[in-house]
Amino acid sequence: MAKNIAVIGTGYVGLVSSVGLADFGNIVTGVDLRADIVDTLNSGRPTIYEIGLDSYLQRNIEAERLHFTTNGDDTIAAADIVFVAVGTPPKEDGHADLSQIEGVARQIAANLTGYKVIVTKSTVPVGTNRRIQQIIATESGQTPGRGFSVVSNPEFLREGKAVQDFFHPDRIVLGYEDERAREYMEDVYRALYLIQTPFVWCNLETAELIKYASNAFLATKITFINQMANLAEATGADIHTIAKSMGMDGRISPKFLHPGPGYGGSCFPKDTKAVAATGDEYGVDMSLIKEVIRGNDRQKTITAGKLVKLMGGSPAGKTVAVLGLAFKAETDDVRESPAIEIVQELLREGATVRAFDPEGIENFRSAVIGEGPFGGGLNSDLREKIAEAAAERLHYCTDEFNALDGADALIIVTEWNVFRNLDLDRAALLMTGRVIFDARNVLDPEHAREKGFTYAGVGRV
Ligand code: UDX
Repeated sequence: MAKNIAVIGTGYVGLVSSVGLADFGNIVTGVDLRADIVDTLNSGRPTIYEIGLDSYLQRNIEAERLHFTTNGDDTIAAADIVFVAVGTPPKEDGHADLSQIEGVARQIAANLTGYKVIVTKSTVPVGTNRRIQQIIATESGQTPGRGFSVVSNPEFLREGKAVQDFFHPDRIVLGYEDERAREYMEDVYRALYLIQTPFVWCNLETAELIKYASNAFLATKITFINQMANLAEATGADIHTIAKSMGMDGRISPKFLHPGPGYGGSCFPKDTKAVAATGDEYGVDMSLIKEVIRGNDRQKTITAGKLVKLMGGSPAGKTVAVLGLAFKAETDDVRESPAIEIVQELLREGATVRAFDPEGIENFRSAVIGEGPFGGGLNSDLREKIAEAAAERLHYCTDEFNALDGADALIIVTEWNVFRNLDLDRAALLMTGRVIFDARNVLDPEHAREKGFTYAGVGRV
């Protein structure tokens, strides 16, 4: 039977889940504190760039299965199931900040009109679902399993493929404690049951840790291949042939073995830090993950340094075209994007930057000058200097060719498809210099060299 669902938080996870759950036939109300976000969504316009999201959003609003509101209290009171998808940003010490989650738990307790299942979608450290359960029990006076149930249902969607991932997940992980909650969740995900999606039923703590283990493992795989790429480069080997051959071993799998400027985004940097902090808290050695975090930071610095070297040791007074600002293709998200550090370094060294990204320019503007919650951790002195340099020497361009106009060098930071097919004849006409640093290995090195460029990729000659 279709359920009446409240989704608290309309960020990436909350919005895609709201739309997806409505498309499964549930009646969904998305809740956000911000009235402007709620208005935009109710008018059928997504607040994030995500392929396919607009049509699913409009379709479900029109079918009256989906709407958005700022009224959390009434929405929770009317719901059978409350999905919690609020943010868990990292604090200074690496621990996830759980204040929003705890606030929602209190709000749920205050509006517990009858039995409800509380489902945590946000990525939360081990023990958080237990804590949510405790808060609701204490504040509502209800017993877990009777007055309400808590379920941990971590989300594995990738930005840029979020809609596709929601409808075709590799698995659905459900941490639960009682049969009633399980039946509710089977109802919610019936559509996925029917297409034989694997369901992993486990306890709350296991579900919480599955998410961290998966992301930390993928981050490790990327850092591994980046370091191997650096070694391949130093020794004259080819990382793509290495990665492909490694991937032929069924135990390894060819995925997530693509070298680049370091991973970014809203999940890997945050989740690796959180898992390391949890290890410290429990006195468990997480040295591997800590080294992955350091190795990834170094990869960003190595990338910026390599560009400077390719430009003869200093980019001062020169112009660099930066293609790609988002942390990966098909998203407008720039959180922890390697492009932030690369552009900051270029500005610091006195270069002029001509930057272009198909979707990420708006978000990049404040991030590169160290503003906003994900602004790159600059101290105030540095922030001022970068902001000053950006005002004078950072130009946002209308397309890739506009960015190349008068450039001494080009760096490709994000693997957008339009950059894969870059017209190098036109590039040569527009650029004053001939240096290309392809930090994502999207161009054909031979082709670039034939066109007269000094080409460098990552881990290949
Ligand atoms: C990731 C997880 O894949 C997803 O399951 C989780 O829910 C959230 O975090 P996302 O951050 O959207 O998703 O992006 P993903 O495609 O996984 O890429 C993460 C970062 O790793 C990007 O910066 C990407 O450029 C980089 N990456 C990925 C590589 O450098 N090499 C690779 O081979 C793969």
